Amino acid sequence: MTATDTALVLDETRWSIVERRASMTAAERLAADVRYGLAQQPPTLPARWFYDEKGSVLFDEITRLPEYYPTRRETEILKARAADIVATTGATTLIELGSGTSEKTRILLRAFTARGPLLFAPMDVSVEVLADAAGTVAATYPGITVQATVADFDESLAPLAGDPGARLIAFLGGTIGNLDPEGRDEFFTKLRDAMAPGDHLLIGADLRKDPARLVAAYDDSAGVTAAFNRNLIEVLRRELQAEGLDPADFVHVARWNAEASRIEMWLRAATDVHARFPTLDLEWELAAGEEMLTEISTKFDLPGLHQVPVELGVEDGLVGVVEVAQGPLAGEAAGELRQLLRQLNMSRQQLAQLHKCPNHKDADLHSSLTI
Ligand code: SAH
Ligand code: TRP
Repeated sequence: MTATDTALVLDETRWSIVERRASMTAAERLAADVRYGLAQQPPTLPARWFYDEKGSVLFDEITRLPEYYPTRRETEILKARAADIVATTGATTLIELGSGTSEKTRILLRAFTARGPLLFAPMDVSVEVLADAAGTVAATYPGITVQATVADFDESLAPLAGDPGARLIAFLGGTIGNLDPEGRDEFFTKLRDAMAPGDHLLIGADLRKDPARLVAAYDDSAGVTAAFNRNLIEVLRRELQAEGLDPADFVHVARWNAEASRIEMWLRAATDVHARFPTLDLEWELAAGEEMLTEISTKFDLPGLHQVPVELGVEDGLVGVVEVAQGPLAGEAAGELRQLLRQLNMSRQQLAQLHKCPNHKDADLHSSLTI
C-alpha cells in the first residue's frame, strides 16, 4: 500500500483490499468516457463499464456457457502447465490484472503454495467481485497473503506489489484481446516500466478460428451475452440518471471482423433513441438501426509458432502463455502476438534464451523467456 491508496478493508494478517488513487473519480471518468465515446462515429464506450455488480455476475455466467470455450480451454492449459510456471518463474508474488473471480487462477495458487508461501495481488476495477475473490482465496489457502487493489489497468500499474524480480504478472481470459493495438501499446509500455528484471509475464490470449464458432461464443443461445452487453445501457442510465435510455431498446450483435481479426460486440438501436444526460448537460441520438461499438475481442495468429515464446492449446487454439521478463526481444515479423512481444521491446538475442518445455506437442509449444 502506498500513501495514495485508500484502505477499504484491512486485515493485517490474511488479506487487504485498497483502492488506488486515480487521476479522476469513477463519476468523472464515466462522464469523460460518455462525452468522448458517444461523440465518436460509430459511438463507443470503454469496456470497464460492463463490470458493475450485475455485469460481473453475468460475466461469470458467460464463462460457464457451453458456447464460451475460452475459459474451459485456458483452465486446461493452466492445469497442464502450472507446475512448469512455478518452476520457470520462481515467483513469490503473483499479480493478476483484471482478475475478476480469480477462479482459474486458483490452479496457479495451488501450484505455488505447494512450493511455499505466496503473496497474491489481484487487481480489478470491480470492487465487489475483487473483495469476494480476495476473501475466498485467503480463506482457502492458508499459505497465501492477499493484497487486492481496486485499480484501472488503463491508468496505473505501478507500483506493482511484492518483491521486484520475483513476481509473476498474469493477464488471463483473453483480456489482452479487448485492447486495440494502440491500447496494447500503452498497456505494455506501462507494464514494462512497472516490471523489474526477473519478473515474468503470463498472458492468456485466444487464437483465430472458425468464425461461426467465434460468433457463437459471443452470442450464446441462452442470451446471457446479450444481457451482459445490454447491461451497459443500464449502467449509463443508473449512474448518470439518464432519461430516454432503456436496455430493451437495444439489440445485441456479435460480428466477426476478418480484417481486424476480431469479434466485435455492438448494440443496435431497435427504435429511435433520444437520450438525455442532465448531469452532463448532454443529449444523444441514435436512429433505429444504428449501432454502438461496445467491445472488441481480438483473435491472434501464430505463424512461425516455433519461434514465438507462446504456449498454444491444441484443440481450440486458445493460446497461451507468454512469459517475459525485462529487456529487449524481437520476433520475426509475423502474427499479432509477435507484434505484442515487439511492443515489449525485446531483442533478438533474447530469443536464443527461449527454452521449450519437455514433452510439448507439435502445436503445443511452451516457451519461456528469462532475461
Ligand atoms: N481474468 C478473469 C476475468 C476476465 S473479464 C477471467 O479470465 O475470467 C475482465 C475483467 O477485467 C473483469 O473482472 C473486469 O472487471 C476487469 N476490467 C475490465 N476493464 C478493466 C480495467 N480498465 N482495469 C482493471 N480491470 C478491468
Ligand atoms: N475477455 C473476454 C473475451 O474477450 C471478455 C468477454 C467475453 C466479453 N464475452 C464477452 C466482453 C461478451 C463483452 C461481451 O473473450
